[in-house]
Amino acid sequence: MEAEGRARAIRGLEDVIAAETRVGYVDGVNGKLYYAGYEIGDLAKHAGFEECVFLLWNDRLPTKRELAAFRDELISEMVLPRPLVQWFKRVPRGVHPMVMLRSAVSDLALYDKETEDNSMEANRRKAARIVAKVPAIIAGFYRIYNGKGLVPPDPKKSLAVNFLRMFTGREPDKMSREAMELMFVLHADHGFNASTFAARVTASTLADMYAAVTAAIGALKGPLHGGANQRVMEMLEGIGSPEDVDDYIDGMLARKERIMGFGHRVYKVEDPRARYLRRYAESLCGSDAALHPYYEISRRIEQRVKKAKGMYPNVDFYSATVQHALGIPVEYYTTVFAASRTAGWTAHVMEQHADNRLMRPRSQFVGKIPRRYVPIEKRKK
Ligand SMILES: CC(C)(COP(=O)(O)OP(=O)(O)OC[C@H]1O[C@@H](n2cnc3c(N)ncnc32)[C@H](O)[C@@H]1OP(=O)(O)O)[C@@H](O)C(=O)NCCC(=O)NCCS
Repeated sequence: MEAEGRARAIRGLEDVIAAETRVGYVDGVNGKLYYAGYEIGDLAKHAGFEECVFLLWNDRLPTKRELAAFRDELISEMVLPRPLVQWFKRVPRGVHPMVMLRSAVSDLALYDKETEDNSMEANRRKAARIVAKVPAIIAGFYRIYNGKGLVPPDPKKSLAVNFLRMFTGREPDKMSREAMELMFVLHADHGFNASTFAARVTASTLADMYAAVTAAIGALKGPLHGGANQRVMEMLEGIGSPEDVDDYIDGMLARKERIMGFGHRVYKVEDPRARYLRRYAESLCGSDAALHPYYEISRRIEQRVKKAKGMYPNVDFYSATVQHALGIPVEYYTTVFAASRTAGWTAHVMEQHADNRLMRPRSQFVGKIPRRYVPIEKRKK
């Protein structure tokens, strides 16, 4: 009681080290991101999503044979339980895809006989199911909800490329395939961000992996976290043309509004993921008259915000333009982030279960104490 009275709350848990991890590391001072010790630039250049998932789960890179077997396992797990596909048809109109996804992942637990088994082996199998089924849910839901037929996965293609073709119903060209693969690689893990922390807190009660991933999706939805990419595109649409950027941004800053896709709790310099996405945003928009203004507007916003506030774009800023160019509707942007981040969430759940201690911080009580109980008939309004 006395100690609780004296303890000071750390708002937003800034700089608090909540656990040890080997999964990923964000070096905010030098603007570097590592998956199990490997720098994101190396992975973006050389590795696909499946290789990154294997790395995050096993703390080492796979051999050629392991990678091929792992990809086969994931693609074969992209099939969805039939009742879940039926449920897509009953989802009310206007529901946000992140709300659908949160419910659908919780629903997956109903059809998995291993839901209650938290052993390392069962967790590994469930993790593969989640990483494979989440993109299939997003694509399948989008198609059924919009009266289109389901597109089956192609075992010769990667998970990220399958997601894009299963979503759009088209075979993507080379640049689109590379861009979607990069999107999946770059979003796979990011230290103890809010959604990963939500997953670990949930896992620390020894709740099952579906519970932890459902909690994580709930946390990712908010505009201060994964929901920012949707808000970025809404801002780009709102601005409309490159000439209007400065007035629009100055107005937002004067009203003390947040510029979505800028700022970060950990990075004090540029988010390295933004650098790679900026390049793809430029390439994808470059030769297309309808898309080019989005890249132009984004660049001008970047310059204006940097000059006015000294802030850099985060991962969500150029992700919006890239997804727009890939034909993903704006309300689905955060689900694409979620599809990739299942890699990190599941890695963290396995790590938490392997060496668990209940996460249970304390709060600083700032109310009156003690208070005398007043019978209801004697209370004044
Ligand atoms: C990501 C984010 C929540 C981190 O914030 P944080 O570490 O909690 O920092 P704070 O909210 O305490 O902000 C610190 C200061 O910077 C300002 N700031 C931070 N991000 C800002 C933004 N995007 N636009 C305008 N001002 C911003 C705050 O207004 C605050 O200013 P003040 O001290 O004058 O009040 C924040 O940068 C933000 O809201 N960004 C926009 C949403 C976004 O892109 N989220 C995705 C993150 S990957």
